[in-house]
Amino acid sequence: MTTVLFVHGFPFDHLMWRHQIAALTRWHCLAPDLRGAGAAVTSLAVADYSMAAYADDLIALLDRSQVRQAVVCGLSMGGYIAFELLRRFPQRVLATILCNTKAEADTADGKRGRDALAARVQRGGATAAAAELVPKLLAPPTRERRPDVVREVQTMIDRQPVAGIVGALHALRERPDSTPLLAQINVPVLVLAGADDQIAPVGGMEAMAKAIPGAEFAVIREAGHLSPLEQPREVNAAVVTFLEKLR
Ligand code: MLT
Repeated sequence: MTTVLFVHGFPFDHLMWRHQIAALTRWHCLAPDLRGAGAAVTSLAVADYSMAAYADDLIALLDRSQVRQAVVCGLSMGGYIAFELLRRFPQRVLATILCNTKAEADTADGKRGRDALAARVQRGGATAAAAELVPKLLAPPTRERRPDVVREVQTMIDRQPVAGIVGALHALRERPDSTPLLAQINVPVLVLAGADDQIAPVGGMEAMAKAIPGAEFAVIREAGHLSPLEQPREVNAAVVTFLEKLR
């Protein structure tokens, strides 16, 4: 049975993939909480957080699960980690699904934004991150007509440990530019964009897909940055169609 390794974004945990895990009954799904997220208890220093460390943790999980190769499905920060896996452990990646993500590193402005958010979270807890991020994460139709999804996202951010959020912000600001990797990717790739994504806009995602040899590209309507939670049916259909072709 093919394994699908789901890698969540920031500042979330594995439950952001709950609709996909429920639907993919014909695949072996692994959906861990990354270090410092959800129930993954750690006592790590900020410097222990990096895309490399997250990727190492995932390889250790594949080893423990006796999985040689997996389809890596990452959203946003999960996509940055998928790039790290493709760069350092290409033989462990059977195919990749890149949701709502981008290849570029942070700009100087972006890095200042990470530091400012880290300081606000240190003072105000995870709620400070939720207040700042939720309006940017969800598409207008989700914010206006789906209070259940808004609440779910808010609650998910609120429960994240402060140390994990601050550590992830460090990893995000220090992440490498993955643009040079794109042309070298030689596994099947599906790129999924949200039509209303403010964080990884459609145009950039389409350009990224064009830079990856043979990559498929699809846009999820009425979805922002969290398309797997905002439009689970459409995302599941695209993911299943892609996975079926790998059989
Ligand atoms: C995420 O969803 O993982 C974040 O938006 C990533 C980022 O802020 O670059």
